[in-house]
This record gives sequence, C-alpha cells and structure tokens, in this order.
Amino acid sequence: MVLDKERSRVLVIGGTGHIGKHIVAASARRGHSTSVLIRDVAPSDPAKMELLKRFTDSGVALIKGDLFDHGSLVNAIKGADIVISAVGPRQLAEQTRIVIAIKEVGNVKRFLPSEFGSDVERVHTVDPAATLCASKVKFRCLIEAEGIPHTYVCCNGFAETYLPSIGDVTAVGAGPPSDKITVLGDGDAKAVFVVEEDIAAYTVRAVDDPRTLNKILYMRPPANILSHNELISMWERKVDRTFHVVRIPEADLLKMIKEVAFPMNILLSLALSIFVRGDQANFEIEPSFGVEATKLYPDLRYTTVDEYLDRLL
Ligand SMILES: NC(=O)c1ccc[n+]([C@@H]2O[C@H](COP(=O)([O-])OP(=O)(O)OC[C@H]3O[C@@H](n4cnc5c(N)ncnc54)[C@H](OP(=O)(O)O)[C@@H]3O)[C@@H](O)[C@H]2O)c1
Repeated sequence: MVLDKERSRVLVIGGTGHIGKHIVAASARRGHSTSVLIRDVAPSDPAKMELLKRFTDSGVALIKGDLFDHGSLVNAIKGADIVISAVGPRQLAEQTRIVIAIKEVGNVKRFLPSEFGSDVERVHTVDPAATLCASKVKFRCLIEAEGIPHTYVCCNGFAETYLPSIGDVTAVGAGPPSDKITVLGDGDAKAVFVVEEDIAAYTVRAVDDPRTLNKILYMRPPANILSHNELISMWERKVDRTFHVVRIPEADLLKMIKEVAFPMNILLSLALSIFVRGDQANFEIEPSFGVEATKLYPDLRYTTVDEYLDRLL
C-alpha cells in the first residue's frame, strides 16, 4: 500500500480485458487512485457487469469513453499521472490516438503501452506474429519520438494462455492433455511463464518507480523459466503418467504456419519465437535498456509454474 503522498492517479485503458482487469485490481489494491476507460458502462453481459461492480466496490472510477472518441480520451487522461494501455491485439494500431491525447493534455508522468509479451525488439519469427511485433516496435518509436516518459512491460508468456495445455500451443484453450502433447522443435529452448495476478502486481509497482523510467520491465521469475520438455516432465510427475509427445521440427512448423488459418497461425508464429528460438530468455538484460521485476521487487512473492500446475489437478 502506498502512502497518501505517494498515491498516483492511474488510468487504465483496456481495463476490462484479459490482462487489464488484473492491472485495475492491482492498482486499486496498491492504493492508487484508479480509473478505467469503459466503452459500455451498463453492459448486458452479466460477467462484464459483475466485473464493473467489482471495480466500483474497490473504489475504481469508471469513465465512459472510447479510443475512437478523442474528447473522452482527453477527459480521462486529464485526471491521470499514469496511463496504462492494456488494449487487445486488434486495437494496437489505434494506440496512436492515446499518444495524441497524452501530448494534448501534457501532464502524464508515465505511459505504459499495451505490450505485455516478449520483448518485440528481440523476437525472431515469421508472419503473422512478425507483423504484430513490428507494430509494437513502431509504436515504441513513436512514443520515444514524442518524448513521452514510458515503461515497456515485457512479462513474457501469460500463464493462462500457455500452461493449461502444458505448453501445447496446438491445444490452447482445450485444458490439460489427455494422451498426447505436441512439442515444437526439440523442446529444449527456455520459455518464461508468469501468472496474470503477478504480471499486474509487478506492473503496478513499476508505474511510479524511477528505476523503470524509459526502460523495459522484464519478468523472468527464476522458477518459471522452463523448457517445454521440463514443463511436460513437471506435469507428468504431478499426474504420475507419461504422455505421447509428438515433435514438430522447425521446418514443418514453418510450413504449418503458412497453411493454418487465424488465430492458429498467430499462435504458432509466436510459439516459434518462444518455444523453438527461445527469444524470451536467450539474452542478457543490460541496465542500459532494461530491469528485471523479481530483482527490483523481491518482496513480491510470485506464483511458481509448479504451484500453478497444482491448480489444474
Ligand atoms: N504474453 C502473452 O502470453 C499474451 C497473451 C495474450 C495477449 N497478450 C498481449 O496483452 C495485451 C492485452 O491483450 P488482452 O488479450 O489482455 O486484451 P483483450 O482481452 O482483447 O482486451 C482488450 C481490451 O481493450 C478494450 N477495447 C477494445 N476496443 C476498444 C476501444 N475502441 N476503446 C477502448 N477500449 C477498447 C476492451 O474493452 P471492451 O471490454 O469494451 O471490449 C478490453 O478491455 C496485448 O498487447 C496482447 O498482445 C499477451
């Protein structure tokens, strides 16, 4: 909890999304004066309505607005020191509208664009993920050219995306495997998995930390840096059985990416970077460009992959 004099005014755009809702909750828990830009303040979807109720019950202010409504963006940003964008992949290009509004308002001390993945400047992959990453790189260039104070959050893999299928990207959303697990490449490249609540907690700690100003905040919890083979072995020990592992060599994966439709093509091309080329953990974090969250905030206890897998039993 921050002291009154350290409270920031945090605005989250995309706060009803997968990662955004955790960030809103973490910001309110930390004691920041938190607001969320909401497109529909009276949604018909009961789950969304319940989420908005949870927000208001925890003291979060709902501000009606839309990326496409410049006046609403300016109005929301006027009341904020920190702007966090957690908009989804389809809205990434529209974030230029946030930059225009931030420039117009002129009081923002920190902007965190919607990154929340691998470091897009250190990803080696093919389309369509290559284009998605390139759009995030381009947006970084705009933020820097406009002189906006920023932090880029590179949390690596969302636990809820990759762990329920035990890293089998061909079965994302299907839950734990019943008999076979598909492994891309040799399965030895190290990937990083972080539980969403922890991503949010580290992000919120970083928003007003001078050590993260104009830096990349990487999340590499030491116990959560695992190869796909190690992840499978961990799961096999827990369920006390072995799975049939189907290995797809890189050359076959490249062919598959060209043949499959959206969204599998994007998942597989991201997986090429994460699980085959090891782009999340294969470089040193130099102090000139980045800091690592578990080192900056050792008091925050993170959920290990081992603990997360217990939830799936
Ligand atoms: N590391 C990983 O494993 C991983 C996995 C998935 C995503 N990501 C990244 O995480 C980031 C967030 O993605 P996500 O999947 O959490 O997003 P998401 O669930 O798709 O949520 C999108 C959010 O943007 C809001 N939004 C959409 N259109 C808007 C508009 N016109 N104006 C204002 N708000 C609008 C949505 O509001 P409504 O509720 O009104 O629709 C929602 O709150 C992205 O950068 C994505 O690339 C990373």
